[in-house]
Amino acid sequence: MPVDQYFVRNPLVTIIANDSVLIFQKDDSKTSCIRSRPENVLKVMEALRTPQFREDILKKIGGGQDEAENLLRQLTASGLILSFADIDTAEEVLRRRDAPPTQLLCKRVVVGITGTIQAAFILPLLLELRRWIAERVDVVLTASALRFVSAQAFEYCGFCVWTDVFERQNNVAVPHITLAMEADLILVIPASASSISRFASGACSDLISLIVSATAAPVILVPSMNPAMLAYKPNATNIQALRNLGMYVAEPGLAFELCELSTDQLHFSGSGLNPSNITQSIEAVFRTYHK
Ligand SMILES: Cc1cc2nc3c(=O)[nH]c(=O)nc-3n(C[C@H](O)[C@H](O)[C@H](O)COP(=O)(O)O)c2cc1C
Repeated sequence: MPVDQYFVRNPLVTIIANDSVLIFQKDDSKTSCIRSRPENVLKVMEALRTPQFREDILKKIGGGQDEAENLLRQLTASGLILSFADIDTAEEVLRRRDAPPTQLLCKRVVVGITGTIQAAFILPLLLELRRWIAERVDVVLTASALRFVSAQAFEYCGFCVWTDVFERQNNVAVPHITLAMEADLILVIPASASSISRFASGACSDLISLIVSATAAPVILVPSMNPAMLAYKPNATNIQALRNLGMYVAEPGLAFELCELSTDQLHFSGSGLNPSNITQSIEAVFRTYHK
């Protein structure tokens, strides 16, 4: 056993505890329990937010030497804490966790949010986008989207929000042209059947359909609708027409139908997509588009 062994809390583990049980979940979704002395384990976890020397943890665990060694072994074997031979590696593991990339993929993304129930779940995705993809994220909300979310919630989180074709803010006289020209990417998530129909027909009757029509940037659409609507021939035809125009359309993911949570049936719909697989798709589109 190396004398200078260091330990840190595994940053990918979620811990939740009461006075008699400590439950933890690893990033591979495996859940485990420790029933003995959760309070002591929590004390150790708190100390292990920074790398700790082995002898110092053993002191924190308390009890007899054998008992403390035993618990430390158990915590390491279960993956709750990680051990390193040197302090630099231990610190590097903590630093890398959630560190944003040094270079973002682009300057500006315009996100269109349309009137579907999935709109209520989009704010966390935008926070991820700003962290991992773009310096600035502009949010365009349709009138129907405003039935599902509040513009203020996005503004409180620092996003620039647009809701009206004729709105003037930040010295922008014609929002659809400025947003269309300055965007490096247009992402419409969730894209309702109605908005998809407007994009496909060139209706240009609201801010997001105007922006989509006027941009040279890649456009990614994430359709979100009930499986029957998705299968409805005119909707399927519109989606294919947009693919034919060169737009990227995300395939629906497998999830519970948000409007019918009373059933236990999984369906393919837009609600099956989450921030991490959308950000990955965006990275993939950028790589292909800019080749
Ligand atoms: C509770 C509720 C949920 C809805 N969910 C969806 C949906 O998931 N997908 C969809 O395409 N339309 C859905 N709609 C219908 C749209 O809101 C409607 O077609 C609206 O005109 C879309 O406008 P927009 O595309 O301008 O945002 C829903 C309507 C309601 C009342």
